[in-house]
Amino acid sequence: MMIKKIIAIASAKGGVGKSSITAALALNMSKSFKVGILDADIYGPNQHILFNLQDAKPNLITVDDKKMFQPVMHEGISINSMGFILDADKAAVWRGPMLSGAIRQLIESTIWGDLDFLFIDMPPGTGDAYLTIASEIKPDACILVTTPNKLAVADLIKTISTMNKLAVNISGYVENNIANFKTNGDYKILEDKGIPFISSIPFDEDIYHFDLNNTPNGIKDLSSFIASTV
Ligand SMILES: Nc1ncnc2c1ncn2[C@@H]1O[C@H](COP(=O)(O)OP(=O)(O)OP(=O)(O)O)[C@@H](O)[C@H]1O
Ligand SMILES: [Mg+2]
Repeated sequence: MMIKKIIAIASAKGGVGKSSITAALALNMSKSFKVGILDADIYGPNQHILFNLQDAKPNLITVDDKKMFQPVMHEGISINSMGFILDADKAAVWRGPMLSGAIRQLIESTIWGDLDFLFIDMPPGTGDAYLTIASEIKPDACILVTTPNKLAVADLIKTISTMNKLAVNISGYVENNIANFKTNGDYKILEDKGIPFISSIPFDEDIYHFDLNNTPNGIKDLSSFIASTV
C-alpha cells in the first residue's frame, strides 16, 4: 500500500466549498491518476451525498485477524467516509476523543491500495480532527479554501497557524466565489504570510447541483497545480 501524496483540503470557516472542491478535484484528477478521498468530516460527512452513494458500504475483509475496509469505488476514485459506516446522527454528539478515535480507525483500517493522491476533505474548525489528521496521516500538503469574504479570510489565518503548529506544509489558497460575490476578499493578509494563490472557482450551477463531471472552472488549474507538485 503506497500513497504518493496526501493532500488535505482545509478551512476553519464552514461552508466555503471544501467538500465540493475535493469531489470535483478528485473526479478531474482521476482521469490521469489513481486518487482516493478520505472524508474526515466525522460530524457532517458529505462525500457519500456528493457522489450519490448514500446506500454504498465499504466491504469489510479480515486481514491478519483485523477487520479492514475496502473503500467504496466510484468513477475510479477510492472513497471512505464515516457517512458509509455510521448513522450520521449518532456521531453528531461525540466528544473529542471519540471523534479522534473514529478518524484514526478510518485511517488505520482502510486498504487504500496504491494511490497517486489521497485527498482529505477536512471538517471546518481547527480542533481535534486537525490534530489527529496531522499526527496520524501526516499530510504532505494542504490546500486552503476561502470565499471572497473578509470573515472567511480572517478564519483562514487560524487554519494557517494550526497547520504551521502541526508542521503541515501549505501549498496555497483557492478562492471559491460561491455566490458571485462582488466583495473584495482582501487577500493581502495571505500574501503577507507568503501563501500563494492557486486558482479561483466561480459560482457554478453544476457544483451547486453536485453535477461535477463537467470540470468546473478553476478546478483544472488546481489539478494542474497539484499534478506539478509530484
Ligand atoms: N463554486 C460554487 N458554486 C456554487 N455553489 C457552490 C460552490 N462551491 C460550493 N457550493 C455550494 O455551497 C455549499 C457549501 O459547500 P461545501 O459543503 O462544499 O462546503 P464545505 O466547506 O465543505 O462546508 P463544511 O465546512 O460544512 O464542510 C454547498 O451547498 C455547495 O453545493
Ligand atoms: Mg464539507
